[in-house]
Amino acid sequence: MPHRLRDLLAKNQLWAEGVEAARPGFFTGLLQQQAPQYLWIGCADSRVPANEILGLLPGDVFVHRNVANVVVHSDLNALSVMQYAIDQLHVRHIMVVGHYGCGGVTAALRGLRIGLADNWLRHVHDVRNKHRAWLEAIADEDVRLMALCELNVLEQSLNCCETTVVQDAWARGQSVVVHGWVYGLHNGLLQDLEMTARDASEVGPAYERALVALKARWSAETAALA
Ligand code: CO
Repeated sequence: MPHRLRDLLAKNQLWAEGVEAARPGFFTGLLQQQAPQYLWIGCADSRVPANEILGLLPGDVFVHRNVANVVVHSDLNALSVMQYAIDQLHVRHIMVVGHYGCGGVTAALRGLRIGLADNWLRHVHDVRNKHRAWLEAIADEDVRLMALCELNVLEQSLNCCETTVVQDAWARGQSVVVHGWVYGLHNGLLQDLEMTARDASEVGPAYERALVALKARWSAETAALA
């Protein structure tokens, strides 16, 4: 085995010993069942690990990650994760989490070709196109990228709310709250974009409010830069 992989296994052993020392019986306790309260839908980026960012241990958060935290209605992978998390695990909160400096969002904004993922990132192109006029009015490209990272969170949160899985849960009165968050690679902090929906009637107004707030924030930022 390559030296570095041996190091990884050694690190793993230390970690497991540390967890067990701090919480005796932790791992055997998890054998019985998992009962996470949260479903995290985030970017595959190595710098955005769900558990570490939230300070949570194994068993606390169910996770789905893909390039640019996209929620597509025909994605059986994401839908299966959501259905299992909601119907079987009864998670209380779903957070759709984007991050600034996202490579996938950057590629979509600049029209860069990076490979097979170009086809996946068409969904982020769609977000860019939907808000094209507003984005193009932002002169600074770094600011435009940050704004698109946030817009992508709003749109993917909206998609999440509109899935049959979430709609069915709400229709039967199950308590599930969808949130849209963005993460700063530069400071390790999560920000709530206030795209929060507790039932079907809240989705449209939550999206509209969050969009207005997002645009107001970035307009102020742009004015400050000018
Ligand atoms: Co990313």
